[in-house]
Amino acid sequence: MTPSSSSSSSSSFGDRPTSYPKEKIKILLLENVHQAAVEMFSREHFQVEALKKSLPQEVLLEKIQGAHILGIRSKTQITADVLRAGRQLLSVGCFCIGTNQVDLLAANGQGIPVFNAPFSNTRSVAELILCEIIALSRQLGDRSREVHAGTWKKVSAGCYEVRGKTLGIVGYGHIGSQVGVLAEGLGMHVLFHDIQSKLALGNCQPCESLPDVLQRSDFVTLHVPATAQTHRMIGPEQIALMKKGSFLLNASRGTVVVLEALAEALHSGHVAGAAVDVYPEEPAENSEDFRSVLQGQRNTLLTPHVGGSTAEAQAAIGREVATSLIKFINQGATTGAVNFPEVELPPNPKTHRVLNAHRNVPGVLRDINRAVSDLNANIRSQLLSTDNQIGYLIMDLDQDVSGKVKDALAQLPTSIKTRILY
Ligand code: NAI
Repeated sequence: MTPSSSSSSSSSFGDRPTSYPKEKIKILLLENVHQAAVEMFSREHFQVEALKKSLPQEVLLEKIQGAHILGIRSKTQITADVLRAGRQLLSVGCFCIGTNQVDLLAANGQGIPVFNAPFSNTRSVAELILCEIIALSRQLGDRSREVHAGTWKKVSAGCYEVRGKTLGIVGYGHIGSQVGVLAEGLGMHVLFHDIQSKLALGNCQPCESLPDVLQRSDFVTLHVPATAQTHRMIGPEQIALMKKGSFLLNASRGTVVVLEALAEALHSGHVAGAAVDVYPEEPAENSEDFRSVLQGQRNTLLTPHVGGSTAEAQAAIGREVATSLIKFINQGATTGAVNFPEVELPPNPKTHRVLNAHRNVPGVLRDINRAVSDLNANIRSQLLSTDNQIGYLIMDLDQDVSGKVKDALAQLPTSIKTRILY
């Protein structure tokens, strides 16, 4: 038996015989997934095949047939066809932040949760922002470029310490709040604005509105997601509200700032410097040419979307996604899945666990409950969550009937995938 649809899988429920030998679970990792993940899967005794590159579609269609877990980064396109070809596929791990490369709806419909690593590079972005606040305040980019070109321009005019200055953070989420903590360590006063009510860390002060934070800050740093509300959120009117001689930093998303308005403000001197890591349009490949209205502006640090690009972040991504996948294989937990109802139950050593993904249609729960009660199965614990398309159920049962329950659920016409764990 294989751990695919209506079959068994391995578990970490103690030393009893397992429902499916761990060493038969095949993990296929593409695109040079970090070694930290490879080691975690190997420690679980799964079979790991780790390839350095992505695979051409026709090779992938063949190779995926034997895989229970597929790990990718941003280059591999996971279409509905690929998912269908993965007849044993339990889950897909995106060892990156974005998940656009996966047909998430198709994966959902086939009972395949997709995991990613949204927060593993938070610290890396926060550190880059701290570095840039100081670099802008000291005009480091310009001085460095001059010395490289053989110009010795030793000046102190327009250069400042950041201690005692005010930093305004727009979007006080994972990254924004980290930036605030680090900036306070430098002796900055920190304000923030968020559309949600947030617990202020340290001595950070919440601001009523975006105009409020813009008017009061010496440095404004943006850490919002790309939404309709944040689209071109910082345009000419907002920049005009900023203090004369203040600085703007954007390492969030390229659509948040109107770059033409920023270029104009840098040119006029209203904004004394800017650090930009993200752009409305970014090259897909390192080899592509890049043009921006900000190129050549004074005291302007331009970086190619590298805010989260560090060795530590890569390792953390490897660990974060591998942890989610291992928890899903061993316990059926879908917490953090981007396309799937989130369900997590602590392991219950005295039971067998049945996992069932089913189409979310009227009457499905009645049929599931009837199948369970017809077998006189005693449910120890049960958790169900649904989305528009599917439902996902974890059920812990007495050991003697669990196999029959699994088989009965797997036979329901509404069932998509059913597994048993012990
Ligand atoms: P998060 O979701 O933890 O925080 C975003 C915060 O923005 C939330 O608190 C949210 O309530 C707030 N927000 C949403 N709309 C807002 C609005 N209109 N006004 C004020 N606040 C608003 O996200 P996280 O992880 O902190 O990431 C922030 C941004 O950084 C995202 O856009 C992400 O794509 C980007 N990012 C950039 C990287 C880079 O390499 N430059 C790497 C990682 C993330």
